[in-house]
Amino acid sequence: MDLTHSSSGARRSSRERGDSGRFGNSGPPDGETLEFRDEELTRTWQDFQLSSMPDLLGSLHLCHALHALSKSGLLDRLRRGRDSAETGLLDGMNHRVSANVLRYLVLKGVLEEWRGTYRLTRRGTLLTSDISLARLGFYLEAYGPVVQRADELMTGAAVYGTDVQRSNGPLSRHCATIFAAYYTPLVLETMRDRGAKRFLDLGCGGGQLLVDACLNDPGITGVGLDIAPAAVEVARELARSHGLEDRLDFVVADAFDPMSWPEVCSGAEVITSIGVLHEQFRDGDKAVVAILDAYAGFLTGEKMLLIGEPEPHYDDRESDSEFFLMHVLTDQGFPVDRAAWSALFARTRLSCRRTLTWATAGPRMCFYDLVPRV
Ligand SMILES: C[S@@+](CC[C@H](N)C(=O)[O-])C[C@H]1O[C@@H](n2cnc3c(N)ncnc32)[C@H](O)[C@@H]1O
Repeated sequence: MDLTHSSSGARRSSRERGDSGRFGNSGPPDGETLEFRDEELTRTWQDFQLSSMPDLLGSLHLCHALHALSKSGLLDRLRRGRDSAETGLLDGMNHRVSANVLRYLVLKGVLEEWRGTYRLTRRGTLLTSDISLARLGFYLEAYGPVVQRADELMTGAAVYGTDVQRSNGPLSRHCATIFAAYYTPLVLETMRDRGAKRFLDLGCGGGQLLVDACLNDPGITGVGLDIAPAAVEVARELARSHGLEDRLDFVVADAFDPMSWPEVCSGAEVITSIGVLHEQFRDGDKAVVAILDAYAGFLTGEKMLLIGEPEPHYDDRESDSEFFLMHVLTDQGFPVDRAAWSALFARTRLSCRRTLTWATAGPRMCFYDLVPRV
């Protein structure tokens, strides 16, 4: 190792030192400063910088800090103009920790600070949009408990579903935000002119589809079914908040076991299932064909089945690869593209009348409008 050093006893100006004086630095300590240099160590440190790991660490922690900003209620306060300690921004909080998290967010360009008041920067506004926070919450809050234990899931020390669970309440809430923005318009378009009034939503999550359908048409009633009690709770609360508890029922049941569905599920004119069916690929294509045929048994006359499924591209854009990882770790079946669904529908008693999708907006998703084959 070729270790060299230079020494200097001279005091440098604060401009040369590069310190702002903000943290009370008054200059270097007295005495000689030794500055070492080693080519090999410099190269390893440069390699680390070039690896982009520092950027990844920045993104990781910024994600957590943004989530905390939202969950702690500070984001709401900032939006409502409580932007300084004087206007109650930190009331009821741990001042020291919260104030320093705000300072971190200033460093990250999310907030700007001016004379003790904090405002979201333009970047901060975009990062805290409803869509951005829903996507963040989906990965961090809903699937974070799973990703954190990826090593155990890989080695088999832990098993998904037994030792490790995704967080279903947050999953439902964050999916519902995305649903309202991107999927409700497509679902309502599919229903146009069909005159259907009774809905059954399988894997209803936070209940957004049914609530939106009811708000759009006062004649609609429905049942939402989900295997996760936490999701059903979120859905009931959403319905209550819109005064729709008389028109919507939510039940805990298994979408893949129609024989176990409670009586209230019968008589639906439209059965919907959004973002659920691919989970059944875990048991192979045949299991999906079988469950689609079971659903077909519930459909007669004008009734229809609307399946909405994420369409993976298996690339590294728009979080597609992260979405894939979530399915890997939760040991679900993998979503497939429209060509694969088309081949699968051909093996069922259903035919696909239309495929609906957004060309350029929202998480990649296709809706398949299915009717019993004649
Ligand atoms: C990705 S979320 C989609 C929720 C909602 N349909 C949406 O699009 O916002 C999938 C939902 O399916 C539910 N689910 C998964 N397997 C299920 C099953 N076997 N029976 C009923 N619900 C199920 C999950 O609990 C979760 O709420």
